[in-house]
Amino acid sequence: MEKFLITGGNKLKGTVKVGGAKNAALAVMSASVLSNEVCRIKNIPGISDVSLVAKILAEINVKVKMLNKTTIEIDPTRVVQRPVSCDIVRRVRASYYLLGALLGRFSKASVSLPGGCNFGVRPIDQHLKGFARLGANYEIDAGMINVESEKLSGNNVYFDVVSVGATINIILASVKAEGLTVLENAAKEPHVVDLANFLNSMGADIRGAGTDVIKIRGVEYLSGTSYSIIPDQIEAGTYMVAAAATGGDVMVQNVTPKHLEAIKSKLEEMGVTIEEHEESVRVTQDGPLEKCNVKTMPHPGFPTDMQPQISALLSLAQGTSIVNEGVWDNRFRYIEELKRMGANISVDGKIAVIEGVKRLTGTYTKATDLRAGAALVIAGLAASGETTIENIDHIERGYENICQKLLNLGANIKRINEENEPINMAKVL
Ligand code: EPZ
Repeated sequence: MEKFLITGGNKLKGTVKVGGAKNAALAVMSASVLSNEVCRIKNIPGISDVSLVAKILAEINVKVKMLNKTTIEIDPTRVVQRPVSCDIVRRVRASYYLLGALLGRFSKASVSLPGGCNFGVRPIDQHLKGFARLGANYEIDAGMINVESEKLSGNNVYFDVVSVGATINIILASVKAEGLTVLENAAKEPHVVDLANFLNSMGADIRGAGTDVIKIRGVEYLSGTSYSIIPDQIEAGTYMVAAAATGGDVMVQNVTPKHLEAIKSKLEEMGVTIEEHEESVRVTQDGPLEKCNVKTMPHPGFPTDMQPQISALLSLAQGTSIVNEGVWDNRFRYIEELKRMGANISVDGKIAVIEGVKRLTGTYTKATDLRAGAALVIAGLAASGETTIENIDHIERGYENICQKLLNLGANIKRINEENEPINMAKVL
C-alpha cells in the first residue's frame, strides 16, 4: 500500500486551488438518475469516491463520460431498475443516495447497506422513516435495503436528527412524488442547497433548501441540465488549517467565503490572520497560536468534517482547548495517532481536552479515515522530523492531488511504496 512521507518544518507559501465539493458531487451524480435526459456536471473533483460512484452507476446502465478533467456527462436515459449490490457500494457511503433516486424514478429500489468512514454507529433510520412517510415499504434483507411503493405521495417528514444523508435521500425520493412534501428539521449544509439547485435546474420544484424547512412539490418530468458544483468547503478549510499549522502564507482560491464562516471565525480566534476576497481567502500565521474551544454542529455550526484538522492545529496552540464532537459518537480515533507524534490530548466520549505542546515530532502513523488522514498530514507538515502516513487511500477519497498541491506550496512530501521507495508523481497524476 502506498504511503506519504512528510518532512515537517516548511512554511506553506503560495496559492492552492480548491476543487468541487465531494459531498455535493456524490449527491448530484446519484440525482442525475432522476433525469429523462443527459446531464452535464462541471467542477467535479478528481477523487476516488467520484470514480467509484461512476462505477456503481454503470451497474444500472447509467453511462458516465469524462469530457475533461473536471466535467462529466451522465446519460441516465437507459437506466435499469435492478439491485445495486456490487462490493463498491459498501466502500462509498453516498451510494445510498441511489435508494432515493431509484425510488423517485421507479418507485422501487434495492441497494446494499452502506459503508464509508467508521466513526461510531451510522444508522439510516431517518432515511427509512422518510421513505415510509412517502408511502414506501422497506425491508432489510441479506445486507440489502429494499424499498418499494405502489405510488409515492408527498407528506410531512419531521427528522428526529439533523441528517445530511436523510435530507438528501428524501429530497431525491419526493422530487417526482405526487403532491407536496415538507421536510422539517432538515440539514442546511451547502451541499444540500447545491443538490436542490441542481434538481431545480432540471425542472424540480424545491424551495427552502438551506433552511430547516424544505418544500418539494412533485413534478412529472426532469430535463437534462448543465450544472457546476460548488467549491469544497472542507478541502478549503483543510488547506487553511495547514497554512496556519506551518506558520505559512497561503492564498486558497476557488472558494465560497460564506461557506467558510465558521472555520474562519475559529482560526481568527486562534490568532490566525485571514483576508477574505470574492472567491479566495488568504491565510497567514506568524507567532504563537491561541487556544480555543470548538463544538462541531450541523451547518452553520463548525463542521464535524473539520474536527480532526482543527484538533491537530490546537495541539500546537498555547494553553488548553476543549473539542466537543456534536455530530458523531466516536470521531476521535485519530487522536491516538496524534499522541504518537507528541500531542497531549485526553478523550472522554465526545470531548477531547487538548493541552498545546511546543512541537510535534514525526513518526509512523496510520490514517483511520478521510479527515483523520488530513489531520495527520497537517500534523506531519508542522512536526519536526519525518512522518509516514499509511492507508493514504482514505485521504485520496476526498482530496484531489493533495500531494502535488502541497508540493506546490513548498511542503516536503513524497508518495512512497511499501519498500519506502519514492513513487514517480507523473505516473500518479
Ligand atoms: C454526511 O454523512 C457526510 N458524508 C459526512 O462527511 C459528514 O460528516 C456528515 O454528513 C455530517 O455533516 C457525505 O455527505 C457523503 P448525517 P451522513 O446523516 O449523511 C445521525 C466526510 O468526511 N443519523 O448528517 O452519513 C448520525 O449517526 C464525511 O466527507 C441518525 O441517527 O451524516 C450522525 O450522528 C464523513 N439516523 C448524525 O445523524 C440517520 O438515519 C449526522 O449524520 C442518519 C443519521
